[in-house]
Amino acid sequence: MNFLHMHKLNKPLTLVGMMGSGKSHLGRELARALGVPFFDSDAEVEAQAGLSIAEIFAQKGEPHFRTLEKQAVADLLERGPCIIATGGGAVMAPETLAALQEKSTMVWVQAGVEDMLERVSHNKDRPLLKNPNPRAVLEDLLKLREPLYAQAHIKVMNRQRESGQAAQDILKALNSFE
Ligand code: S3P
Repeated sequence: MNFLHMHKLNKPLTLVGMMGSGKSHLGRELARALGVPFFDSDAEVEAQAGLSIAEIFAQKGEPHFRTLEKQAVADLLERGPCIIATGGGAVMAPETLAALQEKSTMVWVQAGVEDMLERVSHNKDRPLLKNPNPRAVLEDLLKLREPLYAQAHIKVMNRQRESGQAAQDILKALNSFE
């Protein structure tokens, strides 16, 4: 990634976007390129609760998960320059959206529905997609969340077939943005 990884973050860079948009993979790539730590809000929530996301949803319900998620994102935003992948629904909390905009460089990781379905088919257990029609769930959630994701500072398309491209695009955008 040549000169582009010379960029120095002065605040967290957050990735928002749908389940299956590839935030975690992309986040690790960016963290490596920029020499900063990578955090994942889902992993923080799991560590806090001592339960998996699926267990939290099943045993305590989605509203409880959302409370933990709000706190996890708020905590992560205080850790200085780093990359944070947020859970797909984190932006639905108005105070989280405001904090992401104010305290981080917020990046909307976009993806086509086919790519999202492909990615979610072989990793992480996602309670919201335990549904006979995950495509419809993703499409409905996207409709609802799009106006919130769109408030990001940077938007990038993350195509399955173009490995590395989205990271390059973000690094390029950072150089002209921050
Ligand atoms: C969710 C996305 C998941 C996780 C939870 C709910 C959502 O994170 O937070 O299953 O509401 O979109 P990823 O976006 O990392 O899959």
